[in-house]
Amino acid sequence: MSGLKGIIGAAAVAVGLVAGAPAALAAGGGHGPELKHQSWTFDGLFGRYSEKQLRRGWEVYEGICKSCHTLDYMHYRNLEQIGYTEDEVKEIAARFEVQDGPDEWGDMFMRPATPLDGFAEPYENDAIAMLANGGVVPPNLSVITRARDHGADYVYNLLLGYEDEVPEWATEADPTFSLAPGKSFNTFFPGYAISMPQQLFEGILEYSDGTEATPEQMAKDVSAFLQWAAEPELEERKGLGRMVLLFLIVLTGVLFAYKRELWKDAH
Ligand code: HEC
Repeated sequence: MSGLKGIIGAAAVAVGLVAGAPAALAAGGGHGPELKHQSWTFDGLFGRYSEKQLRRGWEVYEGICKSCHTLDYMHYRNLEQIGYTEDEVKEIAARFEVQDGPDEWGDMFMRPATPLDGFAEPYENDAIAMLANGGVVPPNLSVITRARDHGADYVYNLLLGYEDEVPEWATEADPTFSLAPGKSFNTFFPGYAISMPQQLFEGILEYSDGTEATPEQMAKDVSAFLQWAAEPELEERKGLGRMVLLFLIVLTGVLFAYKRELWKDAH
């Protein structure tokens, strides 16, 4: 009897550990507030991106994030997919400078970007990027929502997860915890010490569609934008998923009818 209890107990602990693991990961190190899940327009089988939201997300990226983060694989013309016209994309691209060359003298030179160019690199090279960011290169964000558990939810929580002072729960969990100079405390970053300072503040940006740019709104819009950048084909994939589901339902119906037919003959 007690043996059985032991086995059940061990199983419960194992299940608890497995179930608890992602949440612990998400919240930086398993202590402190839990990651808040958001409802996203692209959730679920019928989910779609909201172009309006993605354009606001682009405004946040352009206004704030692009000075440190590149989005490899993205080209300015991709912005047409979120509702900008060809002319608008030309205008947007021209606000950026990209390296070209060599010219007839063998020199590289900078020129305004065109829609066919990839997103501009914020730093000339990794060494300069590290110098500017306390020894860490700001990562390419084009696949960040796929590279991290909880994708867009993680980015959202990370952007809002800053604390001015190391909270009590962190020092309670680890009395030796201290922030190195140049690091900020972030509840959702693994290990809590992040080299990216807080970015989203009230009043830092104005949206062109008139939406109020609260930190929560900006976090949500830019997270959705990064989700789109990582998975622009999501809607087609869901469309295919729906087709497969419909096919399976129809197939089940046909097989069921066929089976009834067979049984009818058997009687
Ligand atoms: C001043 C430069 C700077 C700006 C501006 C900036 N970041 Fe960062 N970001 C960094 C650095 C540096 C890191 C690496 C942090 C580390 O590894 O400690 C980082 C890391 C990240 C990460 C990855 C965290 C992880 O799990 O590895 C995300 C996501 C991110 N930034 C999103 C953003 C978004 C969105 C914006 C715009 C709202 C933005 N950043 C603006 C410097 C910046």
